[in-house]
Amino acid sequence: MKIFLETFGCQMNEYDSELIRSILRSQQHTFVDNLDHAEVALLNTCAIRENAHEKIYYRLDELRGRKRRQKKLVVGVLGCMAQNLRQELAEHAPIVDIVAGPDSYKRLPLLIDAVLGKGEKGFDFSLSEYETYSDIAPQRQAGVNAWIAIMRGCDNFCTFCVVPYTRGRERSREPKNIVAEVHRIAAEGFRQVTLLGQNVNSYRFEQHDFADLMEMVAAVEGIRRVRFTSPHPKDFPRKLLRAMAANPKLCKHIHLPLQSGSDSVLDRMGRTYTKKEYLDLVDEIRTIIPEVSLTTDVICGFCGETDTDFEETLEVVRRVEFDSAFMFKYSQRKQTIAERKFEDDVPEEVKTRRLMRLIDLQREISKQRNTVEVGKIHDVLVEEPSKKNPHEWLGRTDQYKGVVFFDESAKPGDFVQVRINAAGTNTLRGTIERPSWRRLPVMAAAADCCQN
Ligand code: 5AD
Ligand code: SF4
Repeated sequence: MKIFLETFGCQMNEYDSELIRSILRSQQHTFVDNLDHAEVALLNTCAIRENAHEKIYYRLDELRGRKRRQKKLVVGVLGCMAQNLRQELAEHAPIVDIVAGPDSYKRLPLLIDAVLGKGEKGFDFSLSEYETYSDIAPQRQAGVNAWIAIMRGCDNFCTFCVVPYTRGRERSREPKNIVAEVHRIAAEGFRQVTLLGQNVNSYRFEQHDFADLMEMVAAVEGIRRVRFTSPHPKDFPRKLLRAMAANPKLCKHIHLPLQSGSDSVLDRMGRTYTKKEYLDLVDEIRTIIPEVSLTTDVICGFCGETDTDFEETLEVVRRVEFDSAFMFKYSQRKQTIAERKFEDDVPEEVKTRRLMRLIDLQREISKQRNTVEVGKIHDVLVEEPSKKNPHEWLGRTDQYKGVVFFDESAKPGDFVQVRINAAGTNTLRGTIERPSWRRLPVMAAAADCCQN
């Protein structure tokens, strides 16, 4: 069959779509970029926030119209929303033929066959304690960075979050298997790996913890940079901080979700750390890795959040000076502890007002943090042509800051040295200080490798 697959949401979903491609291609299905040419339309969905659902219902409305013209089109909803709203989807969206949760992707060929052969609906939302898709090689688009899921699920049950219900229990992949995947992607030409998990610092496989895994991945020849997302601020492994300080391949960037700066809100969120513990951790991170960049996630307007609670969040944001942040209004999710235990009592306009204040503050801080970079020289990994001007390149510093620059002979995957000469809120601009290291004589290039 010709399959059109659209992905919504986080990087874990993008990764899952790479797995889905591999599973379906192995059964002789092919993928098309245009819905007009598709026999099966699959939406790989997200359930984290309100607008994620809205987007998918909107797309399903479009598919309803299309199905009137193209009667045989098979429509499937996969991933977190499929798991979260399975009943609702099964009952209220008659155009949906397939509903499959994040642990059911291996059954997709069977579900498609059941719809085509017997005209049955294909629903599967069983969650597994073991499925890690370790035996599937994801089908990636060629590029500079490859994402690798090192674990699935989450056992933290933050009260606002739907992930433990949609992705099930936490399970880690065997390091041997992850390292084999890293060797494969290095041979395919990827230069950077980002290890993915809902809570990477609880990664554990037999005697190996997350810091061990980072070192193992960094040791793979051909891989120049290793990143990860996301850790939880509780029990942050000091061993990992020391490894990041010592090993130049481990990038000096930590995405450390704060969620709130108020102890009473953090307590209701079930985050298991206090404002002081978070701030102490930040101080320790900056002592061990002085050049680190810190980014975060913050939620405004969680159940019971008062003006004073929100002021405390602003205070922490001011104090830490994050390099950038993802900021959200709280939206109640079905199945979560907060839905059962608390009232979603902060009015929508208050949530919006708080979010706007937070965004304004963070923009100012991001701009200041970027302005400090002006005049410095950074090793930049070239990623892709800049979206605004395809004659320029977008690359990233070790600290994950985007840099736009011009270099007529650079290629994605090259390292260049860029002198930063302007700073915006989201990106830096610079000029080439030293062109691609690949073009240097062999001996000089070897010496450069030792620095990175
Ligand atoms: N409402 C708003 N934001 C949420 N997030 C997770 N669940 C919700 C929710 N119900 C945010 C958190 C998390 C990020 C991935 O999404 O900040 O870290
Ligand atoms: Fe959700 Fe908390 Fe798990 Fe993150 S750590 S996925 S916020 S439950």
